Amino acid sequence: MIPSFGHSLETLRWWNSQVAQALVRGAQTPFYLFSPEPVRIALAQLEGLDFGCPTRHWLSCKTQPFAPLLAWWRKSGRPIEVVSEFEFHAALRAGFSLDEILVNGPAKQRWLPRVSGRHLRVHFDSTRELTTLLPLARRQHWRIGLRIRTRAEHDPGNPSHPTQFGFEPAEAISALRQLRRAGLTPESLHFHLRTNVAQASHYGSAFRELAEFCAAARWAPIYVDCGGGLPPPHTRGLQGQDFAERMDLDEFARTCRRGLARLGGIRELWLENGRFLLAGSGVLVIQVLDAKLRSGIRQLICDGGRTLNALVSTWEDHELRPLERRGGRSVPTAVYGPTCMAFDRLAFRPMAAGIHPGDHLVWFDAGAYHLAWETRFSHGHGEIWWAETNRLRRIRSAETA
Ligand SMILES: Cc1ncc(COP(=O)(O)O)c(C=O)c1O
Repeated sequence: MIPSFGHSLETLRWWNSQVAQALVRGAQTPFYLFSPEPVRIALAQLEGLDFGCPTRHWLSCKTQPFAPLLAWWRKSGRPIEVVSEFEFHAALRAGFSLDEILVNGPAKQRWLPRVSGRHLRVHFDSTRELTTLLPLARRQHWRIGLRIRTRAEHDPGNPSHPTQFGFEPAEAISALRQLRRAGLTPESLHFHLRTNVAQASHYGSAFRELAEFCAAARWAPIYVDCGGGLPPPHTRGLQGQDFAERMDLDEFARTCRRGLARLGGIRELWLENGRFLLAGSGVLVIQVLDAKLRSGIRQLICDGGRTLNALVSTWEDHELRPLERRGGRSVPTAVYGPTCMAFDRLAFRPMAAGIHPGDHLVWFDAGAYHLAWETRFSHGHGEIWWAETNRLRRIRSAETA
């Protein structure tokens, strides 16, 4: 059976019609096609939840650093989270004011002095960073927060190793003392568990740690920033596990409500979901160039794939559908990109035997961490198209040799 990733027929048809229009308008494969409409829908889902206090959604710039999306998000009146000088400038260029930019990420002492300004919001990540930036923070009246590493934050490749982010609780207590001595009052407490968090209870454990920490530190932050991590629908692990299967959003909201109540005095909950909001906002379109049959497996070699356009396929499986309807039985099919790496396999699944060179394949849910991780391995960057309110535009032309 051809696997289904649970998209509605309406969604599949809408993307197909956008892709077909782009091709009629001369789109060259491989290309990404992005749209803000799915972001609007995912945002409405999160904004419909009851967190028990006002909630601010920051755009995770790293997830989809794409100027038209930044402009669309800013027009909607929401702020942006950045983690590098490049992202900071992208945010300024999209028109965000300093008040609408939250600076996260490690080792900011290297670049933040070059760009910072009055009243910037900064989450400190380490003692060295804080000590180096403290004089500037005082002069420019930054609004400050601390990122704390909760016990569940581990390097996924080495689960016995903690991640490198944020303060350990004992370090954070010293950091608070340092800030207070300098006359600064930190406002926000931040954590980011990981991506594709499996279930709401993981946030619950983090909130319990925050409460313990705040009690020990005698600190009452006014904002809590839970980072991102909510899994988007329709994406799976390579073993077939549905990332979002056990994540109940109402339970997530209840967990946050309980956690915030435990902390007391929180004015706003901040969220920075990347994947959840953005994955569904794009597709990758590739064309089949060649077909081979080996050991009972049909191999389709295409002009785009994992190495160039979809690094996440290394650990994620997404919907992949032929644009043209083709008959024939379903046969085990491996879909490859054009690079000279056996690694360049976008997907392996049963597909119609009638698919042939010249046909187009559409890889869904390419709106998060695809553009950010595209490569130019032996090839140039491909085109990008943007479909906003019934207007389809080519935003980037393909690089030529
Ligand atoms: C601090 C921070 N916030 C938000 C995000 C977005 O995460 P996700 O795309 O899993 O929601 C990340 C991702 O790495 C992050 O590091």
